[in-house]
Amino acid sequence: MNTISSAQFAQIARDHTTPLYVYDEAAILARCAEVKAMPSAFGLSVGYAMKANANRALLQLIHQQGIHIDASSLNEARRAHLAGIPWRDIMLTTQEVQDDANLKDLETMMTEGLRFNVCSHRQLARIADFAAAHRIPLAMRVHPGEGSGESATRNTGDHDSSFGVHLSDMAAVQRLATERGVVFDTVHVHIGSGGDPEAWRRNVDRQLDILAQWFPQATRVNFGGGFKVARMPDEADADIQALGAYAKARVLDFYQRTGRRLHTEVEPGTFYLANAGYLLTRVIDKKQTGAQGHRFVLLDGGMEVNTRPLLYGARHPFWVISKDGHLRSSDFAPNDMPADARPQVVVGRCCESGDAQTIDATGRIAPRIMAEPDIDDLVVIGGVGAYAASMSPFNYNSHLQAAELLLRTDGRVQCIRQRQTMAHMLANELPL
Ligand SMILES: Cc1ncc(COP(=O)(O)O)c(C=O)c1O
Repeated sequence: MNTISSAQFAQIARDHTTPLYVYDEAAILARCAEVKAMPSAFGLSVGYAMKANANRALLQLIHQQGIHIDASSLNEARRAHLAGIPWRDIMLTTQEVQDDANLKDLETMMTEGLRFNVCSHRQLARIADFAAAHRIPLAMRVHPGEGSGESATRNTGDHDSSFGVHLSDMAAVQRLATERGVVFDTVHVHIGSGGDPEAWRRNVDRQLDILAQWFPQATRVNFGGGFKVARMPDEADADIQALGAYAKARVLDFYQRTGRRLHTEVEPGTFYLANAGYLLTRVIDKKQTGAQGHRFVLLDGGMEVNTRPLLYGARHPFWVISKDGHLRSSDFAPNDMPADARPQVVVGRCCESGDAQTIDATGRIAPRIMAEPDIDDLVVIGGVGAYAASMSPFNYNSHLQAAELLLRTDGRVQCIRQRQTMAHMLANELPL
């Protein structure tokens, strides 16, 4: 459902250049509270996977809720710190292997409290002596061999993905850790994004078994993120309270069997933001590809501001709003479609036939029933708070990176990223 009214969207479109993102602070705060309320056996630490959306104001807002940051690159960690977040509230889980200069930086960050989550034998070999000498415990991301994701490319736990230390490497990595005197205090698994909650549950059991077998000194278990968010009316959110209750029961059972009290961690990204973010676009053209073809609605923003349909076949809801602020159709009100509603293919303005917001995972266009918009009407695309602004090929076709606005709880609309200018886009180019 949308949490911002059609009249508000129309006002924002009058005040700002489209396309742009609008985030709803109240919706983000409600999601933060939900994650923090997840049950746990011996305490819960809640993280935010900042790759979902790394905007400075959003990092600050989420961190103010007592949520720490999961960074997926050294630059993400630096970016979070530049937003005012202390190193002790940042964990780094990365595929990178640091070169010598960056390794020195990483060591300094770790001295100041950053937690490093080892993801490979080579990463451990590079950091082991430093960690042992400074008595800094490490986390380890384990590759469990089974995962689940919204699409094959979002499964990070099965054998087709390369994240974490695979169980077949575990003996060698543990041997190295013992030789160098490294202690692992945290066992981390993230099985994928938006996958089956049953797979998340199965991972809880698997991860606790792995912890019991390989991590005698671990005191913390991090179950990652990945909670499914329902963007479309026919989807269902993961019941994260039920998932928390399951993990709590398994961690209590683990305690009864072993006497070990494990602190629990989770680190979603999507769950906080996906449905708190909207892309506000304007209809710039309409076309028809003959009697056997399709009707196309062309928007002033497409794959360069929301690449998820092209990347994953992801479905996002649409609201068609007249330019004076009246709702014409909504995917959430299929029974209230106007008489002119018909299947439409929603595309952007990039020179790329995959630049469609209605495209399936095989790359085929998948028309959606919606009102027939007029030129200059607005199409709001929902579910874009996560992995849209942060993951967009925004300068493709030399389009300018879109602005990001935050609708504050007091009703103010605050700009949290200015629209890029031509000068910004060209800033680092050098002439022949
Ligand atoms: C290590 C790790 N943690 C957490 C997340 C967040 O996943 P999601 O946004 O699906 O919650 C990701 C996403 O890729 C991840 O790689």
